[in-house]
Amino acid sequence: MTNILLTGTAGFIGSNFVPYFLDKHPDYNLINLDLLTYAGNLENLKECEGNPRYKFIKGDICNRELVEFIFNEYNIQGVIHFAAESHVDNSIKNPGVFIQTNVNGTFTLVDVAQKYWMNKPFEYKKEYLNCRFHHISTDEVYGTLNETDLFTEDTPYAPNSPYSASKASSDMIIRAYNETFGLNTVITNCSNNYGPKQHDEKLIPTIIRKALNNEAIPIYGDGKNIRDWLYVLDHCIGIDLVYHTGKNSNTYNIGGRNERTNLQIVDTICSILDKKVPKEDKTSYKDLITFVEDRAGHDRRYAIDASKLENELGWKAQEDFDSGILKTIEWYIQNGK
Ligand SMILES: NC(=O)c1ccc[n+]([C@@H]2O[C@H](COP(=O)([O-])OP(=O)(O)OC[C@H]3O[C@@H](n4cnc5c(N)ncnc54)[C@H](O)[C@@H]3O)[C@@H](O)[C@H]2O)c1
Repeated sequence: MTNILLTGTAGFIGSNFVPYFLDKHPDYNLINLDLLTYAGNLENLKECEGNPRYKFIKGDICNRELVEFIFNEYNIQGVIHFAAESHVDNSIKNPGVFIQTNVNGTFTLVDVAQKYWMNKPFEYKKEYLNCRFHHISTDEVYGTLNETDLFTEDTPYAPNSPYSASKASSDMIIRAYNETFGLNTVITNCSNNYGPKQHDEKLIPTIIRKALNNEAIPIYGDGKNIRDWLYVLDHCIGIDLVYHTGKNSNTYNIGGRNERTNLQIVDTICSILDKKVPKEDKTSYKDLITFVEDRAGHDRRYAIDASKLENELGWKAQEDFDSGILKTIEWYIQNGK
């Protein structure tokens, strides 16, 4: 059996990843470290409780003593690092915790891993040869795009929010541990995810919840900001593939080639809800759309070129936005969100 440390798995993406990964790799024990901040919810992992290969530990990735204890106690042989403060709006209101968790926390984890697995720079202990650190990052590190370009792995970093700056910093720390110590690392930079278990505060759950509660649906600015949406399980499949077959030191962009403006998103969701849960007064949920003051420094467009992952590792998104959003809405309705 191989023991892998996963961080931040009580959050949105991690909690979709864990059941998928447990099922896919019967020879792995998964040790899950999560602080259960406001964004973490153990309900998200209920389906894994009782699985002898799943262990949950409540704790902070910044707590070096705890991280060292976990490496020693569980003889950790791989890390997939999801934990982060992840909401751009919160990073504008309270940037400090973003630097603490995303920068210092990532440093703590990678530094402990390097010292646990290696004798000295470029020399792994023989029982830990090839142990890998996979850092989960975002396309937001690249900044904002014009109307036509796509982010590739070679796009220069130009983060614009405290969130994306903290993620860019953490990517640089991982890069440095690869270059300086020869630690086996990979980084994945993914576009916006959607799907089951996403926190209420994010765009798609907010639209669904507000609509079903017959409340105003807030849309920033003119609603024309563009994001490239990826169904969360496609992200999980990409992570699995990169963790196992990605080239050491490489970065892989993950994106669904599903660019949508926020207005298109809200429009699609309202049209689906109009059919699935028609309002008694027969009006459309679209009447609830309300434009609110734009987010400070709001990036206009993100879009990913995922060719490297597709061509080198054979990944392809299985859902397009139309199929993924249907599944997502059904999940939120069934789960009373
Ligand atoms: N959601 C997206 O669209 C998206 C897109 C690209 C990349 N990412 C990246 O993927 C990762 C996961 O994102 P998400 O949307 O699931 O985030 P999330 O906010 O839903 O979950 C984050 C999890 O990390 C935990 N956490 C926070 N601080 C911690 C700490 N100090 N120690 C231990 N655990 C801590 C939280 O309790 C929570 O369970 C993040 O690194 C994020 O930057 C997210």
